Amino acid sequence: MRIILDTDPGVDDALAIMYLAAQEDAEIVAVGSVHGNVPAPVGALNALRVLELVGLTPPVTVGAARPLAQPLQTAEFVHGDDGLGGHAGPPPTGSVAPGSAAEQLVRLARAHPGELTLLALGPLTNIALAVILEPELPSLLRSVVIMGGAVNVPGNITPYADANFFHDPEAADLVFDSGFPDLTLVGLDATEQARVNGEWLAALNSVDSPRARFASRLLDHYGQFYSHMFGEVTCTLHDPLAAAIMLDQNLASYREIPLGVELTGTHTRGQVVSDRRMISSDDHIPATAGAGRVPVKVAEKVDVPRFLDQMFKSLQG
Ligand code: BDR
Ligand code: CA
Repeated sequence: MRIILDTDPGVDDALAIMYLAAQEDAEIVAVGSVHGNVPAPVGALNALRVLELVGLTPPVTVGAARPLAQPLQTAEFVHGDDGLGGHAGPPPTGSVAPGSAAEQLVRLARAHPGELTLLALGPLTNIALAVILEPELPSLLRSVVIMGGAVNVPGNITPYADANFFHDPEAADLVFDSGFPDLTLVGLDATEQARVNGEWLAALNSVDSPRARFASRLLDHYGQFYSHMFGEVTCTLHDPLAAAIMLDQNLASYREIPLGVELTGTHTRGQVVSDRRMISSDDHIPATAGAGRVPVKVAEKVDVPRFLDQMFKSLQG
């Protein structure tokens, strides 16, 4: 699979890159950073750092500096001041490529129609900008997998929204409205199942390889945040699960439903909304929440043991 990665590294974004690097059937063609966990320029340098650690050299462009319609907010309180739990280390050897992440996405999609899969692991600002630049983007991509949203479960950064959609609700709603024909949403419904425990972390800690040592350091910081929240040694692998589901859709079950994003709620801005009533236009009930949009495949039940096994193996090398 040939992949364009859009990301805000971010601890779990970094782990997703490491996961992908270990998969024979995954080729990261290009990377774009986006504001989110850290500012977009910081995220681009972190992406370069992690790619260099795993021996990959795709072009990395800097993406949107801020959301479409609200001020920039970042999440260093989860991911550390440098976005990598304080373990970013020295600057990368390589430098960022020219142009923006949205321009890069449009250029590559036009050059390779129907070939590329987009994996979006941060706020969807770059994807929304790319659709504005090229409205045919949905038909130029092979498929799209998004980590974001909470459909039938509580949010994380607010009671209703996950961090990626909270950081740019307008962009997320625009993407759902764009008609991507093969769009999979790996939201908190799925990723909250993808938690590692103290035993898993201890086993990784005992593996003596550069990748495992780096991953252990990242998870140590990230785990402190989650362990404090959940009252047990644990952390949640949101972005790696989205990467894994992109490569192997059998890792989860799905519900197909059109989606929207709440843009005006005082408490619910950024919440995923859907109309699950069994109504048709003949019922003369006003349609709402995503009506008329192309359905999204929402990941639900995850094969957690298989995913965690794959994840562990990918960090061993
Ligand atoms: C998402 O938000 C970010 O903090 C993570 O990197 C992940 O992409 C989870 O809500
Ligand atoms: Ca992310």
